[in-house]
Amino acid sequence: MIALPSANYEGAEGDFTRDEFLAEFAYRYKAGQHAVWFGSTGRGKTTLLGKTLAMPGMPKSDGLITIQLGPDAALAHLGKPVKSWPPPSLVLDAMRMDHRDRGVPLVRRYQPLPKKPSDFITIRRQASRILLWMFGQKNFTIVIPDLQVVTDPGMMGLGKEVDQLIITIRKRGGAAFLDAHAPRWIPSSCKDNVQHLVVWPTRNEDAIKSLGRLIGVDWRIISNLFRSMHYHDALWVDVTADEFFIVRRK
Ligand SMILES: Nc1ncnc2c1ncn2[C@@H]1O[C@H](COP(=O)(O)OP(=O)(O)O)[C@@H](O)[C@H]1O
Ligand SMILES: [Mg+2]
Repeated sequence: MIALPSANYEGAEGDFTRDEFLAEFAYRYKAGQHAVWFGSTGRGKTTLLGKTLAMPGMPKSDGLITIQLGPDAALAHLGKPVKSWPPPSLVLDAMRMDHRDRGVPLVRRYQPLPKKPSDFITIRRQASRILLWMFGQKNFTIVIPDLQVVTDPGMMGLGKEVDQLIITIRKRGGAAFLDAHAPRWIPSSCKDNVQHLVVWPTRNEDAIKSLGRLIGVDWRIISNLFRSMHYHDALWVDVTADEFFIVRRK
């Protein structure tokens, strides 16, 4: 462990620069673990997600598929965009074999951009097809930035499907990386039993209290830490190791 003991941050194990975090996270992250990023829009969730998943050896599975609303510069380096997923099974088998031979993960992004409300019907169907396919996967990673876009009834309305999927693949060793604004927005399966939490500071007391419960740390400690942190700094909780660290913006 390369955590630096820090006298300044009561309760935290230490702090990392962003690069140190990326290296340490990729080192600690085990295949099949679930990770959730919490923070309001603009904090840098997707940026950090994109950098984490691009670390050497990540993802620790055959590949990954994202469900995201429209292209996001923070994820553009992760594989190729697709109009739908999965491809016919013969094609997929060939792709998987080819990627395995080359030792390169199969990385794809489903990133539809709705132009009118009715587009949500098609997008919902396609996203639901990806979730359904993930049910059968042991060795694949699902990435959903802005999880509430997929789960909210007003958007794709796939909360129940995501809930079922997360519980199921957690048991079978399928990996998930999710990002969301706050715990109350997302299905309970997505925040319980996760191995890694990364949270950005918030002043919302309700959010801090539920983060405290999730992390298992007195919310007042978290509130104090948040007050001492910069806008783009985050807190990383390695739940399995029962440790948490500050992740500096740079
Ligand atoms: N550590 C950082 N330091 C400075 N700017 C950052 C940092 N992380 C992200 N940003 C910038 O903040 C903006 C929002 O980042 P993004 O990852 O899209 O946030 P989110 O997904 O939380 O909405 C982007 O312009 C990004 O370049
Ligand atoms: Mg984002």
